[in-house]
Amino acid sequence: MLPLNLLLAALPLAAAQSLSDLILDTAPSSPRPYIIPHYANAHAVTIGQQLYRFPVTGPSSDYAFTLMSTNAPASSSLGVLPHIHQKHYENFFAFKGRFQLWAQKGDGAQEARLLTQGDYGSVPRNTTHTFQIVDPDTEMIGVISPGGFEDLFYTLGTNFSSATNTPYVPAASNSSSSPPAEVIASLQKFDVYAQLDFEPTRDLVNGSSSTESSWHAIDSTVTPLGEPAQPYFIANNYGPKYLNSRHGAYQIVQPLVTNAQSQDTNYTLSTIIMSRLHAGSADSWKGDGACAFEVLDGSVMIQIGKYPVARLESGDVAFVPKGTEYRYWSERSYAKVLYVSSGEGGLDRRLIEGGKSWAYPTFPTSWKKTEL
Ligand SMILES: *[C@@H]1O[C@H](CO)[C@@H](O)[C@H](O)[C@H]1NC(C)=O
Ligand SMILES: *[C@@H]1O[C@H](CO)[C@@H](O)[C@H](O)[C@H]1NC(C)=O
Ligand SMILES: *[C@@H]1O[C@H](CO)[C@@H](O)[C@H](O)[C@H]1NC(C)=O
Ligand SMILES: *[C@@H]1O[C@H](CO)[C@@H](O)[C@H](O)[C@H]1NC(C)=O
Ligand SMILES: *[C@@H]1O[C@H](CO)[C@@H](O)[C@H](O)[C@H]1NC(C)=O
Repeated sequence: MLPLNLLLAALPLAAAQSLSDLILDTAPSSPRPYIIPHYANAHAVTIGQQLYRFPVTGPSSDYAFTLMSTNAPASSSLGVLPHIHQKHYENFFAFKGRFQLWAQKGDGAQEARLLTQGDYGSVPRNTTHTFQIVDPDTEMIGVISPGGFEDLFYTLGTNFSSATNTPYVPAASNSSSSPPAEVIASLQKFDVYAQLDFEPTRDLVNGSSSTESSWHAIDSTVTPLGEPAQPYFIANNYGPKYLNSRHGAYQIVQPLVTNAQSQDTNYTLSTIIMSRLHAGSADSWKGDGACAFEVLDGSVMIQIGKYPVARLESGDVAFVPKGTEYRYWSERSYAKVLYVSSGEGGLDRRLIEGGKSWAYPTFPTSWKKTEL
């Protein structure tokens, strides 16, 4: 038997990594850099008419977070019966189409919103919640921390893959997507606690159950993030904004969850808008936690570890393991991504700390590095 040092010497030098190694069809079983294109199979399962995909899983992120998407047609019934998670913080983001989301914490008021593209709903632990899809081509993005929650869907769902990568199956099925009450009631081992007494209100006016807080109202001021452990909703571009110009281009960060809200679930979630930047000017970043980017608008170039530069288009997801260097930029005039990061040192937090409060989801008309 060869001594270990000879064995290692016999290995070829690391071959140049290629894009085809980086771009995968399903999330890997342990953390490494990867990209999952929009509508890739990504461990897809169907539950009734809903099609779930899992670009970031527990195993692929070392259980930092799960990033999933749900595509479905409009439905006349709830997408799932009302329930609570005791250990998982769940985030709902409307990629396209519309869905209604209900949330209630303990004895607090029941809140409901109609979410359309770019709108966000925050469902901390122990919040009763449910949803209903109401547009023909709807896609919800779900971010759940910690990771691993997809096991529930693997158990409830039917494996799916398609040669055309259609968003969801165009079947005229009339079956409810929600598992029946007796099944929901048996899911506590997956951190699902049925709340079958919850009666979702249908009294929404202008997309909201609340007369106190505004929702897509033209005269509304900045919608603040919620108190820790309380559910809240932020309409697209109505939340707090920060402009950062320290890295060669403008970046506008809109936090959806900061470490103040996530507490010990230990993650941050934001959107980031970016102006054009030349490849050579993009700074290098490294996180103390895993992170992922999903393109919402435009396209984003990303270079992760030793892999070649890849272009991410709308709905594509890039995953960066903790401690891996990466660079990202937009070659075009405008791009927007959803960003999730494990831990307290996320890119979003660092851009906010290096930026200034800003009122618009657009950047200034000429380039000027901010002097702070
Ligand atoms: C479904 O897919 C998973 C991998 O995502 C696999 O482990 C499992 O065996 C599949 N189940 C069936 C019934 O094919
Ligand atoms: C959630 O509720 C369970 C059961 O009441 C409780 O044990 C747990 O501490 C709660 N979690 C949080 C974060 O409040
Ligand atoms: C769909 O299901 C509902 C409730 O089960 C039923 O009332 C309705 O008639 C069904 N529609 C069709 C087209 O089968
Ligand atoms: C609903 O929206 C319309 C149009 O913006 C506005 O005039 C009306 O006051 C809103 N209703 C409520 C209850 O906020
Ligand atoms: C938070 O996440 C970071 C990055 O994943 C990790 O290093 C740290 O141990 C976590 N802290 C807690 C309290 O879980």
